[in-house]
Amino acid sequence: MYQQIELYLEPDCILDKMEDAYCEISMAEHGFICGLLRKYQPHKIVEVGVAGGGTTAVIMKCLDLLQIKAQMYSVDLSEQCYRRQGKVTGYQLNEVREELGTISNHKFLLGHILPKVVDEIGGGIDFVVLDTVHSLPGELLDFLCILPYLKDGAVVVLHDVTLNLHDISRKGSYATKIILDAVSGKKYFNYKEELLNIGAIEINEDTRKNIANVFSALSITWASLPAKDEMDCYKNVYQKYYDEECMNLFEIFYRAQAKLLGDDVRNYFFVGVELLETVYYLEEIGQNTEKLYQHFMEYADEVLYIVGADDQLYGIVSRGDLYRYYENQDEELKINQRFQAVSSLDYVAAEKVFQKISTIHEVPVVEQGYLKGVIRSKTTRNRNDWEVYKRQLTCIKQSGCLQ
Ligand SMILES: C[S@@+](CC[C@H](N)C(=O)[O-])C[C@H]1O[C@@H](n2cnc3c(N)ncnc32)[C@H](O)[C@@H]1O
Repeated sequence: MYQQIELYLEPDCILDKMEDAYCEISMAEHGFICGLLRKYQPHKIVEVGVAGGGTTAVIMKCLDLLQIKAQMYSVDLSEQCYRRQGKVTGYQLNEVREELGTISNHKFLLGHILPKVVDEIGGGIDFVVLDTVHSLPGELLDFLCILPYLKDGAVVVLHDVTLNLHDISRKGSYATKIILDAVSGKKYFNYKEELLNIGAIEINEDTRKNIANVFSALSITWASLPAKDEMDCYKNVYQKYYDEECMNLFEIFYRAQAKLLGDDVRNYFFVGVELLETVYYLEEIGQNTEKLYQHFMEYADEVLYIVGADDQLYGIVSRGDLYRYYENQDEELKINQRFQAVSSLDYVAAEKVFQKISTIHEVPVVEQGYLKGVIRSKTTRNRNDWEVYKRQLTCIKQSGCLQ
């Protein structure tokens, strides 16, 4: 079922010329991509998901070494490298431009999702590398978007096809494996000598004939909901190229996922004061340590909010305060008035607090001193997730649902 590809490792040497050879695709996986480039000798290459641009440079070096004349486009929705603060996306390719003879054939398309730029790239694409979020719907949407622009015989490389098996915190990272499994075509996946975290599909007539399977896979639970304007962009492309059955599956499953996840995101990120179980009124508790102690014993809360008689936020007591109280045997549990609060549902400010202080999971939202609710962090180590949530929340905020 799976063909094995002979690794071509030489182009990886370009990474040695970089100041910081950080790359999210390993040397062996680069060898897999370059092995496919050697076998297929493509003319029009698209990479979706660039980060530092290490892989971009390896592909360009490979084209040089093989003397292939190909145009390459690198698409990333972020203009800033998400792993290196202060560096632009693709900065590593920029560092080694002079080492690459065919660099004038390369173009970055940054700050956009694929459906926004796919017409600019145009048809006749014969080699693609998909490496973006890995959680659903993720690369499924991009695969469906780019397929109509591919030549028969084109190769689509899928990175992180076994990421879910490497790290428990990435157990939902299987979008590219679903593509590898659901798409018809000739498949490459080196699993015999060493299980590589990368696979590829050669597109043929059957791929297009059976594409409803991939639309159907959109029913598998999504990890997050892309912003509505992004989904509209994908839909516009799909409408041009896919039949009624595919569009029906898309509509039905998108609607069902949006119903579940729209509410989930709203609840996760913003809990209104009326839903907060952790608010106590100052006059009711006074300095009643026993009451606060009982609260933490009974509930798994990390913090509780203390509100004054006028409904203004007076302070916060955290579980940490409780432990300190025990260690020092203070008479009173401290109400912390130097809390981090944000105003006007500023989730970007909240995110900064979450990133900086990993033990904080709730940030109070205060308007003119009044507690309006909290923004909760999603426990995630994945920077990509934050980007998705930020865009979703912008969308929800714009729709007025959070005000
Ligand atoms: C895993 S990294 C790519 C790593 C890169 N291929 C390498 O070899 O180092 C994922 C990249 O995808 C980008 N990204 C996330 N979602 C995207 C989307 N929907 N469209 C385009 N780029 C996306 C992120 O900004 C990030 O730069």
